[in-house]
Amino acid sequence: MPWRVGPADRAKGVRPDPYRVWLSEVMLQQTTVAAVTAYFQRFTARWPDVTALASARDEDVMAEWAGLGYYARARNLLKCARAVAADHGGSFPETRAGLLTLPGIGPYTAAAIAAIAFDEPATVVDGNVERVMSRLFQIETPLPAAKPELVARADSLTPAQRSGDYAQAVMDLGATICTPRNPACGICPWMSACMARQAGVAATLPRKAAKPEKPTRQGVVWIGHRTGALLLERRPDKGLLGGMLGFPGDAWDGAGGDAPAPAPWLHIGEIRHTFTHFHLVLRVHVARIDANPMRGEWAPLARASDLPTVMRKAWDLARDHITG
Ligand code: ADE
Repeated sequence: MPWRVGPADRAKGVRPDPYRVWLSEVMLQQTTVAAVTAYFQRFTARWPDVTALASARDEDVMAEWAGLGYYARARNLLKCARAVAADHGGSFPETRAGLLTLPGIGPYTAAAIAAIAFDEPATVVDGNVERVMSRLFQIETPLPAAKPELVARADSLTPAQRSGDYAQAVMDLGATICTPRNPACGICPWMSACMARQAGVAATLPRKAAKPEKPTRQGVVWIGHRTGALLLERRPDKGLLGGMLGFPGDAWDGAGGDAPAPAPWLHIGEIRHTFTHFHLVLRVHVARIDANPMRGEWAPLARASDLPTVMRKAWDLARDHITG
């Protein structure tokens, strides 16, 4: 993982760069290492330190984030970079408490940066760590009620030294061996200590309270094009996909809404996308637009790569209908 410093370099005194630790931890929230790596490399090539990121244009950062999801993370990333540049002389605070004062840094991220970048014995608890603790100590209480107990158990194991290496080792254990389904208990370094394994219930933990089923919402998008250009609209900063580019559409409330320009709109099909709290079925319309649109801005076709995944799905459906 490109944000890590290995044991050989650590022995030579190389320290993890707090900027890279912070960036990787924000990207890794809700997202896997496999999905994050290419984004991390593009971000650090384009903005090598926090001061560079702080002076980036909002729309460039949102465009680089496109496809990673949970776009509030990208807006908070910029806010945080600007706070570090403006209020902390371009250096991250070096304690968990100091990190917690920054915008967009919550208890998880503050603990992770403090442990990994600054060797503070902070306890880092993400979903992987919760799963490992629930099995190691055979905690049968369902999540989320079990959280305080899982944090206390994790806390009891956090070592005073190399707590960052330890935290990442437990996360790696959860990502590779102590996996949600079919955990590889036979090769686990903690197998003899694991209470859930002894009881034969490892794969059933952690228990989770039943979640209400996600509702399905209906929406429309209007993909207007003219030669070499697409009609796009930047979404308001607040709300879902805030600050991202998209095709003009409705409020995803089933009401339909008006097209952004009079044109021979063709309904070409539906795409489906699942957000945290609902499924979306989006009816996709395409037309060549000759009149002046009432909404949106013309953008070069290449901007399609700056779209969030739901809009990219609509575009993938539409592009074959569009020539020139
Ligand atoms: N998940 C979140 N942060 C991580 C890290 N530093 N290493 C491995 N997995 C992670």
